Amino acid sequence: MAEVVRAATEADYPELLPLLETCFGTGTGPDFERIITLDPWRDPENTRVLIVDGHVASHVQVHYRPVRFGCAQAVMGGIGHVGTHPDFRKRGYSTRLLNDCIRLMERKGYHLSLLFTGINDFYAKDGWRTIPTERFSVAATDVPIWDEPAVCVRPYGGDDDREARRAIYDTVCHGWLGALRRTPLYWQRQPKWARLEGADEDARHSLMAEVGGRAVGYAAFRPLSGHLCFEFAALPGCDAAARAMVCALARQTVELGGDLLHFDLPPGTQPHRILADAGVPIELGTSRHYMYRVIDLAGLLNALAPEFAVRLQEADRAGGRSSFVLDIESHRAAVTIDRARVHAHPTTSAPDVCVTQQEFLRALHGYDDGRAALDAAGSGLPHNPLGVLFPRGVHVYAAGDHF
Ligand SMILES: CC(C)(COP(=O)(O)OP(=O)(O)OC[C@H]1O[C@@H](n2cnc3c(N)ncnc32)[C@H](O)[C@@H]1OP(=O)(O)O)[C@@H](O)C(=O)NCCC(=O)NCCS
Repeated sequence: MAEVVRAATEADYPELLPLLETCFGTGTGPDFERIITLDPWRDPENTRVLIVDGHVASHVQVHYRPVRFGCAQAVMGGIGHVGTHPDFRKRGYSTRLLNDCIRLMERKGYHLSLLFTGINDFYAKDGWRTIPTERFSVAATDVPIWDEPAVCVRPYGGDDDREARRAIYDTVCHGWLGALRRTPLYWQRQPKWARLEGADEDARHSLMAEVGGRAVGYAAFRPLSGHLCFEFAALPGCDAAARAMVCALARQTVELGGDLLHFDLPPGTQPHRILADAGVPIELGTSRHYMYRVIDLAGLLNALAPEFAVRLQEADRAGGRSSFVLDIESHRAAVTIDRARVHAHPTTSAPDVCVTQQEFLRALHGYDDGRAALDAAGSGLPHNPLGVLFPRGVHVYAAGDHF
């Protein structure tokens, strides 16, 4: 049998779309087509197929995704629609395609990869690591009825509000780690991309908050899929608007017959702080669907150098010099810190600091346990900089950005 791994051509799509329907269910072929044709960063080379005797047997998509880490930006490859036709399973095809995607991402200068899955063990074999992420819910009737007379909360107005939402997101997402750097074109297409205005949802349930006629916050809410708020942002200093939006979401949940108001957001985000400050009982849950993989450790550290400089300066640690070899399982980089300048290159030299990939990824995304592991592993370094380079933060990759 002739087996070839390559980019899909237009001629493959009449076979590829039914294959995805077979793997993922009715409607997923058109869904996939919509997602890749609306993708503002679409790269046709990233639709990878394994061809057996001229027919599409297996598929993996890599989505180019620029993500923010403070003032720095890294390139992430989002892995999606991993599927092998039932007649061709358990022959290693998917594994071959995933490895092809890793090489493609290395060649194209990607730093990280993210996927969402329920079959974590399958991807762990090829180096992706589960990053457990906390989510929270509250009983809608526990949310106080805050009286915020200066704030007007109204339904989201679609195109008319898009620019205001974009500006609010750009300000607020600076405080998140790993959030998508959305472009104007992405904003224009996002409602169709993420089906925010899909047939089973009502976009009027998403909210805008205004103070003195100026938009200062927004909340994206899925009324039918479990009363779920999947995006929430209020400008700094606009706590009254944030409270008014949380209150409106709770009211909607009750009106729609729901008990629990769910947030597809982690602790540390604005609605969590507001609810915690008000003493509302918060139920935490853990999602195990996010898996990350480092693609290029040295490249990632170099991409983050502008943010590292800020962190070193803010911690008043920009005077020290340090150099060490960092090892995270199969990735190793020699790191030099000279005043606030961080530089890394790949190396095979003996490591000074060894952590697991998962610990590193948790530290990168601002989790205390990951930072503590890095800090402890680097305790022998002069002016151990690791706790400073990877401070506590809030990891948000917004659900509306999923691929
Ligand atoms: C998962 C899937 C892509 C694997 O494709 P494949 O070409 O058969 O994969 P490979 O031959 O490279 O690897 C097969 C291995 O994956 C394992 N695997 C398959 N489905 C699995 C699952 N649901 N959970 C855990 N492991 C799974 C197999 O047990 C096998 O393990 P083994 O090598 O130890 O025997 C394929 O089963 C499929 O298309 N499933 C439906 C769509 C899907 O669930 N996609 C993943 C979405 S995140």
